[in-house]
Amino acid sequence: MAALRRRVLAAAAAGGGLLLGWALATGDERLYVAAVMPVLRAVPPEAAHGLALRAAACGLLPSGRPDSPILEVHVFGQRFCNPVGLAAGFDKHGEAVDGLYKMGFGFVEVGTVTPQPQEGNPKPRVFRLAEDEAVINRYGFNSHGHAAVERRLRARQQTQLRLTEAGMPLGINLGKNKSSADAAADYVAGVRTLGPLADYLVVNVSSPNTPGLRDLQGRAELHSLLTKVLAERDVLPCERKPAVLVKIAPDLSAQDKQDIASVVCEVRPGGRAVAEGAGRAHLSPPSLAELSSASMAGPAEAASCAGAVGSEERRGEERQGGHLPRRCGAPAGSWRQPAGGLGQGKAAHAAARARARAPQVGVDGLIISNTTVSRPGGLRGRQRAEPGGLSGTPLRELSTQTVRDMYALTRGRVPIVGVGGVSSGRDALEKIRAGASLVQMYTALVYRGPPAVAAVKRELEELLREQGFKSVAEAVGADHR
Ligand SMILES: Cc1cc2nc3c(=O)[nH]c(=O)nc-3n(C[C@H](O)[C@H](O)[C@H](O)COP(=O)(O)O)c2cc1C
Repeated sequence: MAALRRRVLAAAAAGGGLLLGWALATGDERLYVAAVMPVLRAVPPEAAHGLALRAAACGLLPSGRPDSPILEVHVFGQRFCNPVGLAAGFDKHGEAVDGLYKMGFGFVEVGTVTPQPQEGNPKPRVFRLAEDEAVINRYGFNSHGHAAVERRLRARQQTQLRLTEAGMPLGINLGKNKSSADAAADYVAGVRTLGPLADYLVVNVSSPNTPGLRDLQGRAELHSLLTKVLAERDVLPCERKPAVLVKIAPDLSAQDKQDIASVVCEVRPGGRAVAEGAGRAHLSPPSLAELSSASMAGPAEAASCAGAVGSEERRGEERQGGHLPRRCGAPAGSWRQPAGGLGQGKAAHAAARARARAPQVGVDGLIISNTTVSRPGGLRGRQRAEPGGLSGTPLRELSTQTVRDMYALTRGRVPIVGVGGVSSGRDALEKIRAGASLVQMYTALVYRGPPAVAAVKRELEELLREQGFKSVAEAVGADHR
């Protein structure tokens, strides 16, 4: 009897193993949701995340398929082969970047990285709210620090250059150390150390788990911080500088949003704010009340923010689909050399010099949003009262509304990355129609696993066609027209 039970158990385990192997190899969505993810959720959240990251680093996750041209996006002077990226926090230390691209993401964001290594908050610090398809985390920027992440990313710099060329740019998300007395110096150090390895940098001023961090979203604080960050970005010894994006919280008042819109439209490199007077009057964003009646697509209105947020040169590149590598293209060891000195042709050289003389632009984009400290009604997860930032399905509407507000306040001239509760193509398109040019996901991976990436892209493509859009760009901000 005991022998029979052992044989039945062994057969069941073998069958389960085969099923799991099949799911892992093929990336079958239903098998992942029904079999793989529940097994992984039997493991405590932080340990499960560690396993997933290791699997990605070893290339054990299913590969994505080539993307349809309808999904291609041109933004920040970059080509993205699809608009679905991996949000910050999943690969904080840059340990599994290549495996993560293999899953089908159009871009990957590493970080948040702090200058010095730090432990973050005591464990447990991540909680699943399975009933709500949500997560609460209070990691508090556990980070290996700039030097370790720089080493790791430098070791795969050539690989990243090829990925970027193929339409899969890399973002690096910057933060500050908990004990730092000078937040701006921490971000500036991040620009200097990690900027040369990034296609875009993120000034993360919205994580709820570092005391005082979100105060940096205030008008004066943000203006001062971004002025310093942009000044540092502009002196990076790269032919093409990384774009600078600001990641904001979803828990902002109407006044906060107006202030942020003003700052991202105003801040110019080298500490020069846009002059007072006529220009300034044009730049001040409308109030939220004005927005409800205003059309955001009119050329006269659109001009109001255009001078501040993007040179026509760059916008032209984006429109024409032109693509120039942003990152320092120098091989490891000589990366401080401008790429123009690396034996390019004369024409490319002259073009690089012309670009260097052209006026630099300010903030390149917004990432909306980080996790929320609010607790929307109706949460069912037992651990819903744990302190920290809430992500996943219950964040979706709040973050989409913030995308909508910021798109309107910036007159659609500041590209937006929409993040928060994206788990389907419908969610992605909702954010795109509200004003996002790209989207990111994190929490959906906890519940649906890697196949969620392919599913979001497939559904998004179907919906774009159904709604008569020929490209993602055509759908951006469609709800405002
Ligand atoms: C466990 C966890 C850790 C995170 N860590 C970071 C981080 O280090 N930096 C950051 O900017 N955002 C971080 N985020 C926020 C995500 O990047 C994203 O903005 C948020 O989770 C909303 O997206 P989602 O609903 O798809 O998860 C984290 C989110 C989670 C769930």
